[in-house]
Amino acid sequence: MKKILCVGIVVVDIVTELDHYPEEDSDNRCHKLWRQRGGNASNNCTVLAILGAKPYFCGTISDSDEKKFIEEDFKNYGVDIGYSVVVEGTDCPRSCVLTSLSTGSRTIVHYNKNLRELKLEEFCSIDLSQFSWINFEGRNVSEVKKMISVVRDYNKQVSKEERITISVELEKAKEDVNDLISLGDIVFLSKDYARFRGWNNMEEALSKVAELTLPETTAICAWGEKGAGAIVKPQKNVFTSSSFAPVHVVDTLGAGDTFIASTILALSMGLSVEKSITFGCKVAGFKIGLRGWEEFR
Ligand code: ADP
Ligand code: FRU
Repeated sequence: MKKILCVGIVVVDIVTELDHYPEEDSDNRCHKLWRQRGGNASNNCTVLAILGAKPYFCGTISDSDEKKFIEEDFKNYGVDIGYSVVVEGTDCPRSCVLTSLSTGSRTIVHYNKNLRELKLEEFCSIDLSQFSWINFEGRNVSEVKKMISVVRDYNKQVSKEERITISVELEKAKEDVNDLISLGDIVFLSKDYARFRGWNNMEEALSKVAELTLPETTAICAWGEKGAGAIVKPQKNVFTSSSFAPVHVVDTLGAGDTFIASTILALSMGLSVEKSITFGCKVAGFKIGLRGWEEFR
């Protein structure tokens, strides 16, 4: 089995589980509070590993106190971090996450003081021949554009079977992320990003994004309880999947990352787009009924 590489960030999440989202300036008690490794690419790798794939994480890791926890946790889950770069004299990015049992929402407050992102020359040290798929988190856009072009150049030199599928994730509501739409073979867009573009539902998001993608791109959009959809060019065939809600939604942190990782795995194994997004929704639906990655694994 060829390997899957996820390029992006790793952070420490402090997750606090509450009955209700708290009022401002109130004093609350929570049911549970735990620490877990987070960040989209890191979460993608966690899910891929749980599903039995061979994920590689590539990104920067701070040399702070959290480094030992992050490295051991990656190892514990079976994620290879050999291509990651440790940056000295930096603080580890962290997120405070409040999960609400009454609504199933997760509210993230993220802080990154000074950890820089991966540079092109660091990405270029990777032996691309071992990978069948590379997923890029939609961040660090100017460098990621160059990294994608390196992979495209590589693809031109190898046989069709050896080509690497490039997927990009458009998640953050940021202007520069737009530049990535026309670069992926597979483009994942979140509802947050879609709303930022003024696309108010999944169907609208799919049809609008398809005007901007490459001629043979598949665009995939997850939309919480509505499930997910995909539009496959050049014919612009649309496929949808419902969501698969558990009896109790307890932790939706990383639902999107779970959906993306599972869908990538299914597509990389040759499943149809329709089956792949359905698999993604099933795995994400299963995950949100469990707390954190530890209950899920
Ligand atoms: P994000 O984490 O990016 O906000 P979404 O909320 O769109 O991601 O969720 C991704 C996938 O997880 C959805 O397509 C759906 O399959 C599943 N999911 C998320 N929230 C729920 C929910 N409340 N009920 C059922 N499925 C959900
Ligand atoms: C979830 C997540 C968290 C992290 C945050 C960073 O998708 O990756 O693990 O704290 O987003 O934006």
